[in-house]
Amino acid sequence: MSLQREVVLAGETATAALGRALAGVLPAQLMIPLEGELGSGKTALARAVLRGLGWTGPVRSPTYTLLETYDLPGPPPAGRRVHHLDLYRLTSPEELEYLGLRDLLAVPACWFVEWPQRGKGMLASADLAVALTLDPRGRRCRLRAQSAAGESCLRALWDRPELDEIEKMALTS
Ligand SMILES: Nc1ncnc2c1ncn2[C@@H]1O[C@H](COP(=O)(O)OP(=O)(O)O)[C@@H](O)[C@H]1O
Ligand SMILES: [Mg+2]
Repeated sequence: MSLQREVVLAGETATAALGRALAGVLPAQLMIPLEGELGSGKTALARAVLRGLGWTGPVRSPTYTLLETYDLPGPPPAGRRVHHLDLYRLTSPEELEYLGLRDLLAVPACWFVEWPQRGKGMLASADLAVALTLDPRGRRCRLRAQSAAGESCLRALWDRPELDEIEKMALTS
């Protein structure tokens, strides 16, 4: 899979719009590694997706807990499960065993994983890789499809009206 897209996120409003757009096209099950340095906006993007899915409660960074799980209420597609992992502080792969990762991976869910390389071999393979970098206008976000599911999600994402808004924000910043 080589489908790839890039967008400039000029400020937090643009990050929120991308999260909303992604929430609108997210299938029930998808593995989304979030790559980027500390402060690049990985947690901000995961939070924006959860807001887009209708989660109104707190979305904390899983820096210390490693894992935060969100069970959105209602029948599918609204009712669904989202896991937010942050492996920055992972000291050994066994720690993931303690979190019950094996059982969690057996149930359909979307996964947003910060520092995914630290959990290599322990996670499902990536569907849609997201890389965030700093940009003079805010952040730059590169999305790469790595499976058929990731590719259809990425195509649908680029058809969303929010993407035009985001591009306008980047042009006027
Ligand atoms: N598009 C953007 N432009 C500028 N700042 C942003 C943008 N998106 C998010 N931010 C800010 O960047 C910081 C990113 O923090 P965080 O999401 O915790 O990073 P990470 O999880 O990658 O360490 C937050 O202060 C957030 O408000
Ligand atoms: Mg983070």
